[in-house]
Amino acid sequence: MKLWKGRFSKAATSSADEFNASIEFDQRLYKDDIKGSMAHAAMLGKQGIIPADEAELIRKTLKEIEADIEAGKVEFTIESEDIHMNIESVLTERIGDAGKRLHTARSRNDQVAVDIRLYLKDEIAAIDGLLRKLMDTLVELAEQHQDTVMPGYTHLQRAQPVTLAYHLLAYYQMFNRDKSRFTDCLERMDFLPLGSGALAGTTYDTDRDFLAQELGFKGVCPNAMDAVADRDFAVEFISCCSITMMHLSRFCEELIQWSSIEFSFVEIDDAYSTGSSIMPQKKNPDMAELIRGKTGRVYGDLMSLLTIIKGLPLAYNKDLQEDKLPVFDAGDTLKASVNIFTEMIATMKVNTQNMERAAKYGYMNATDAADYLVTKGLPFRDCHEIIGRIVLYCIGKGIAIDEMSIEEFKGFSDKFEEDIYEKIAIRSCIKAKKSKGSTSFESVKQQLADIKKEK
Ligand code: ARG
Repeated sequence: MKLWKGRFSKAATSSADEFNASIEFDQRLYKDDIKGSMAHAAMLGKQGIIPADEAELIRKTLKEIEADIEAGKVEFTIESEDIHMNIESVLTERIGDAGKRLHTARSRNDQVAVDIRLYLKDEIAAIDGLLRKLMDTLVELAEQHQDTVMPGYTHLQRAQPVTLAYHLLAYYQMFNRDKSRFTDCLERMDFLPLGSGALAGTTYDTDRDFLAQELGFKGVCPNAMDAVADRDFAVEFISCCSITMMHLSRFCEELIQWSSIEFSFVEIDDAYSTGSSIMPQKKNPDMAELIRGKTGRVYGDLMSLLTIIKGLPLAYNKDLQEDKLPVFDAGDTLKASVNIFTEMIATMKVNTQNMERAAKYGYMNATDAADYLVTKGLPFRDCHEIIGRIVLYCIGKGIAIDEMSIEEFKGFSDKFEEDIYEKIAIRSCIKAKKSKGSTSFESVKQQLADIKKEK
């Protein structure tokens, strides 16, 4: 039975009912809806807006309905449209008039707004935990790989030697900012829309501060029209999801490259790889590829919601019912991605020898060789030029810079001495970095210590 049937002389067609209904996807808000309704009933009772015993009966019955939903004993109907009216219908079926009083001083517009905020607050807590786990895993790996030398790249060309720990901690910092972005998002979301009514507030002597306290919000939305009309907090949430997915996706792209025969830097565990139906030798990094692909989906969710909201006049419009699909999808996708990613990197094998070998070739000590000449008093630009010619010479001979004889070195500049070999050895290049936040062993150790202190 329709809760709003009074004004209508004709029933909706079944096609219209079906098109209008959101119960298929918003039923996952049932817990939040019941939580909001229980607080609302308590407030109505406390304020004497409905009889206290009826408020109690409503609360008790809502708890029972929650248990019945969990036990699969409640059948939702399309006719009741959404989760709010489905629960209210069941409530009224069970306790009659008392159930019909629950919707006093409330509208579905503030009801759905509070439901999504409650849902997202839990979602953010879950994401926070998953990101924490991922970051812990990165720290553990970084600790193990402080002495694992690898090429650092720019333009995907070997650039300067770094350590794997350093590379991993770069991602740690990105995920740390992602995590704090979710915290910021929560901070702005943490205001209660319930009690706003449809758009203009209500005529009842409600106590919204009490509601905020009951539901764990730090305050009350200061303007009722804003409270029911906007979904910027959901846009912000999906935007946080998108940025996190972007970081995951870059990391995945690297793992895909690193696990190719061409790199052979890592081997993803069999448990997180798949085979080919035709090529027996294949072991594919599907999890990483899927995360990279799903990143596109989450960006799509962000674009959907921004576009859904952009043309809406204040206050509530039914378009807003469409907010849930991208919100749910972005959260689900991010959680699944962070989870599988963490498992995948915790179990992958790092081929430290291959990384080190790759770091030895590619003239990555060229900058250090130039810096060496600077210490001998030459201007950096001249040093750059000299080393450039040396690299060209070495490429021609098919050797590394440190494979030149001292006579060959001196042929390019009489400033070169025997100590050049030690100065441009790979670990020396890493060790010699002095700037704060660098790849030097010392600096990475400090970065790890700072991370531990933050926690
Ligand atoms: N199912 C609706 C939604 O998700 C609930 C709010 C409906 N309000 C209304 N006035 N039709 O947005």
